Amino acid sequence: MKKNPYQPIETNLIEVISESPVIKTFVLQPKEGFRFNTGQFIELSLNGTGEAPFTPSSDPNISKEIEVTIMNAGRLTAGLHQLKNGETLGIRGPYGKGYPLNEFKGKNILIVGGGVGLAPLRSLIYSLLADTSSFGKIYLCYGAKTPQDIIYKNQIQKWKRAIDIKISVDRADDDWKGNVGVVTTLLNDFKENLSNFISIVCGPPIMMKFTTYKLIDIGFKPSDIYLSMEKNMSCGLGKCGHCRMGRFYVCKDGPVFTFDKIKDMHDLWD
Ligand SMILES: Cc1cc2nc3c(=O)[nH]c(=O)nc-3n(C[C@H](O)[C@H](O)[C@H](O)COP(=O)(O)OP(=O)(O)OC[C@H]3O[C@@H](n4cnc5c(N)ncnc54)[C@H](O)[C@@H]3O)c2cc1C
Ligand code: FES
Repeated sequence: MKKNPYQPIETNLIEVISESPVIKTFVLQPKEGFRFNTGQFIELSLNGTGEAPFTPSSDPNISKEIEVTIMNAGRLTAGLHQLKNGETLGIRGPYGKGYPLNEFKGKNILIVGGGVGLAPLRSLIYSLLADTSSFGKIYLCYGAKTPQDIIYKNQIQKWKRAIDIKISVDRADDDWKGNVGVVTTLLNDFKENLSNFISIVCGPPIMMKFTTYKLIDIGFKPSDIYLSMEKNMSCGLGKCGHCRMGRFYVCKDGPVFTFDKIKDMHDLWD
């Protein structure tokens, strides 16, 4: 019998890692095999509350466990943030096309992340670091509201061996020695030769909008800017139309798009 595509796979919650006052990483162990490509998303369900889309933040080469990093933004995510180890969740997917790693091969890569937008980018970074000889130089510019809101602090320290990393906060505290300002301010000093560069951006819509315009300003071509679009989703399967953006269904045709494909859509940043 054909499997019901809406039927979630039962999944054990085996660890909850607090990343910031409002962001937690959930380590999940699906009861059957589950693989995803970096940048694809899942629908995660909490019994009696509902389901929502999230992009795994873990290494896609690890199939026994997947990690999702979730900001407490509303009803479902508040419920998830209350959970303790040992509870059962549902996942279905993976959905969407994810990051086209083959297109990135041989290129220098500038990754720009804002807030919890570093979650899908962490999965991408694991994939890039697993195969460094295939890619050029990797740069990461990351923006968070305050130093307490910076996620993956330990991993960032390790990534510094292989990645040129700059971090900015909107509001500093007394101990912060780094840049202060929105993440685009980090791009003011980005003076590399862009002939063999791509950029990958993930964050809240307003951050993606201003980052994209800044990248164009400093010389990136729209076709070299990869954006992870977040639209309202329901089925995840290209059937319900909730995620429609112009001629695309974000769940099926995306969620990753190059800017040239979507730049003329009127509701792009809504
Ligand atoms: C492809 C895709 C991948 C995603 N990946 C991730 C991810 O990896 N990590 C992640 O954290 N999120 C991710 N998201 C976003 C995530 O799906 C939403 O945050 C989630 O659906 C919110 O569900 P909710 O029921 O908790 O919020 P809802 O209750 O549906 O609230 C949604 C919105 O309303 C606002 N809101 C809710 N309650 C209030 C209130 N009381 N006052 C004012 N405003 C309020 C919230 O700020 C939020 O913007 C992704 C989205 C998509 C489309
Ligand atoms: S979420 Fe249903 S068509 Fe995309």
